Amino acid sequence: MNHPSFEGQPTIEAPAWVKHRKLIDWVQRVAAKTKPDRIVWCDGSQEEYDRLCAQMVEAGTLKKLNPAKRPNSYLAWSDPSDVARVEDRTFICSQRREDAGPTNNWIAPAEMRSTLDGLFEGAMRGRTMYVVPFSMGPLGSPIAHIGVELSDSPYVVTNMRIMTRMGRKVYDVLGEDGEFVPCVHSVGAPLAAGAKDVSWPCNETKYIVHFPESREIWSYGSGYGGNALLGKKCFALRIASTMGRDEGWLAEHMLILGVTSPEGRKHHVAAAFPSACGKTNFAMLIPPEGLNGWKISTIGDDIAWIKPGKDGRLYAINPEAGYFGVAPGTSEKTNFNAMATLKENVIFTNVALTDDGDVWWEGMTDDAPAHLIDWQGKDWTPASAKESGRKAAHPNARFTAPASQCPSIDPDWENPAGVAIDAFIFGGRRSTTVPLVTEARNWVEGVYMAATMGSETTAAAAGQQGVVRRDPFAMLPFCGYNMSDYFGHWLKTGERLEQLNAKLPRIFCVNWFRKGADGKFVWPGFGENMRVLSWMVGRIEGSAQGEEHAFGVSPHYEDIDWSGLNFSREQFEQVISVDDAAWRAELALHAELFDTLQQGLPPALTEAKRALEQKLAA
Ligand code: GTP
Ligand code: SPV
Ligand code: MN
Repeated sequence: MNHPSFEGQPTIEAPAWVKHRKLIDWVQRVAAKTKPDRIVWCDGSQEEYDRLCAQMVEAGTLKKLNPAKRPNSYLAWSDPSDVARVEDRTFICSQRREDAGPTNNWIAPAEMRSTLDGLFEGAMRGRTMYVVPFSMGPLGSPIAHIGVELSDSPYVVTNMRIMTRMGRKVYDVLGEDGEFVPCVHSVGAPLAAGAKDVSWPCNETKYIVHFPESREIWSYGSGYGGNALLGKKCFALRIASTMGRDEGWLAEHMLILGVTSPEGRKHHVAAAFPSACGKTNFAMLIPPEGLNGWKISTIGDDIAWIKPGKDGRLYAINPEAGYFGVAPGTSEKTNFNAMATLKENVIFTNVALTDDGDVWWEGMTDDAPAHLIDWQGKDWTPASAKESGRKAAHPNARFTAPASQCPSIDPDWENPAGVAIDAFIFGGRRSTTVPLVTEARNWVEGVYMAATMGSETTAAAAGQQGVVRRDPFAMLPFCGYNMSDYFGHWLKTGERLEQLNAKLPRIFCVNWFRKGADGKFVWPGFGENMRVLSWMVGRIEGSAQGEEHAFGVSPHYEDIDWSGLNFSREQFEQVISVDDAAWRAELALHAELFDTLQQGLPPALTEAKRALEQKLAA
C-alpha cells in the first residue's frame, strides 16, 4: 500500500476502507505540497504501533526500556530546543482580528496561508507522511468529533494512538462524507536523499496555526506535546471552543472526577487549573487516612467537552483516551494511581534513564539513583547535579499512557452521554493572596472568579517561569476566540440553564500553592485536597458551613474534617486568610485584564468587579 514517490509526485492510493473522497483529495493536495517519500494510512493496530516503535528505536528517536521493569515502554529525548508548547508561536487566524481577541496572536488568514504555503512546500521530503484518523470522545458518541492528522512524525503517530481513539474504526464513523477537522503537522525538517536523520527532527521556526472559521490546524517546526499532538490543545480546546461558542457547548481545560461520599452519594466535578498546576493529580486523588470513606474516580485529567442536556444539566465527556502527564513530582506518595498507570505501555519523554533500563525523574523517589543518563543524554549523579544544578528530567518531561490503565478510572469514563456536572472548580498556582478555597455565591460571581484568576507560569510552556499572569478559566493559551466573548458564552450558558429551572453547578476557586515565610508550601496538597473537596460536597448537599467574606464563602477551621491530619488553626489561617492590601493590589490586576479585554466585555463582570471593590472598601 505504500508507494515510493517520483520527484514531486507522491503516489497516493487510499486503502479500500477509506471511502471519503474529500478526505482522499485533501491528503493528495497536502502530499503534493509537502512531497513526502511515502504515505502510510494508519490503521491503529497494535502491529502498526509496534512496527513504528521498532523503527524509531532503530532511528534513535526511542529507547526501548527494560521489559522486565517497564514492559512495552519507550523513552524519547527531544531536541533541547523543543520541550514545551510555544505560546508566542501559536496563532488564531480568524477573518477578523476582533474574533481572535487581544489575548491571542492574530495574523490575517490570507497572509498566514501564504507563509504556510512557503513553509510546507517540500517540508516532508525524505520522510513518510502518516494519515492518522482519530476520534475525540468515544467513537460515535453524540458529544464526540473526528479529526485527521497528517504528520511526518512517527512519534506523533504513536502518541496519538494512546491519546485518542485512533485507527480504522474512525473511517466507519466518517463514512463517505462525514465531517472531520483537518490537521496538518510537519516537524519542518526535510531530509536530503541519503542524508542521515537526527533523532528528534524539528525546526527553529515554529508555527502552530488555527483557522477557526474553516476549522483547520497547521503545525510546523515542533514535535512536542501540544504543538504536535493536534487532537489535544489545538483541536479539543482551540478549535472546539469556537465550535462550542457557535453550537452552545463548552470545551474546557478541565479534569473530570467522580466523588462518592461515605454515605454512597456520588457527585461529578470538573476543575480547571492552568498547565502543570495539578489537574492530573486531583483527578486521581486518593483520600488520606481519616477520610478513607470517600472515593474518587477519574473521568478525565486535562480536557472536558461539556454539553447541556435536555434536563438542563451539563454533561461532560473526556475527549481523550490517554494521559500526557507531567512526570516530575509524580511519585507513589503524591500520585499512586498515576504510578500504577505507568507500569507498562508507556512512552516517556525527556525523563532520565537508569542504569537498569528504567526511568527516573525528580520527585519520583526520595533518593535519586547513584547514576543516571539525564534527558540530554549526559551522565548525571546526585553530586554532579548539586554542583551544576542540572535536572535529570526536564521540568516539562511527560508520560503518555492509556487512560484505561488507571486504577481509579470511572466506570462511566467512556459513557457516550457523559456525566452530569455538580460543581466547577477553578484554581491557580499562587504563593500569596488567594485563599485555599472560596465558593462563589452565584453563577456570575463564579464566572468573575474564573475570569480574573491568576497563576504563576510553569515549564509547560516555553518562556519565563514563576511569573503571575492572568489566566482566565486556565484557558489563556487555549481559547480559540475572543476571551470577552468566551466570558459572555459562560454567562449565557448559566442564564440558559436557569431558564430551564435547572440546578446550576456550584463554582469554587482553590489555591493549593500558598507559601510560608520559609518559601515552602503550607498546604500539604495532593491527597489532602480531599478535605477541601469534601467541604465542597457538603456545600452542594447543604450540610457544610462557611464564612462569608468580600468575594465569596470560605470554610472556618471547624468546617473542615481534619481526621488523621495535624494541621493547626495557625497553619489554616496562613492558607485561608484574605489580606485586604494584597486584594486591593489583586483588584488592580483584574482592572488591567478588563482594560485589555474592554471590547465586548460583558457588563455583568464589570458590575461584579464594582461590587467587589465596594465590599473591600467597606
Ligand atoms: P498539564 O498536564 O500541564 O495540564 O498539568 P496538570 O494541571 O495536570 O498538573 P499535574 O497534576 O501534572 O501537576 C503538575 C505539578 O504540580 C506536578 O509536579 C505535581 O507534583 C504538582 N502538584 C500537583 N498537585 C499538587 C498539590 O496539591 N500541591 C502541590 N504542592 N503540588 C502539586
Ligand atoms: C498543558 O500544557 O496544559 C498540557 C501539555 O497538558 S500539552 O499537551 O503540551 O499542552
Ligand atoms: Mn493541560
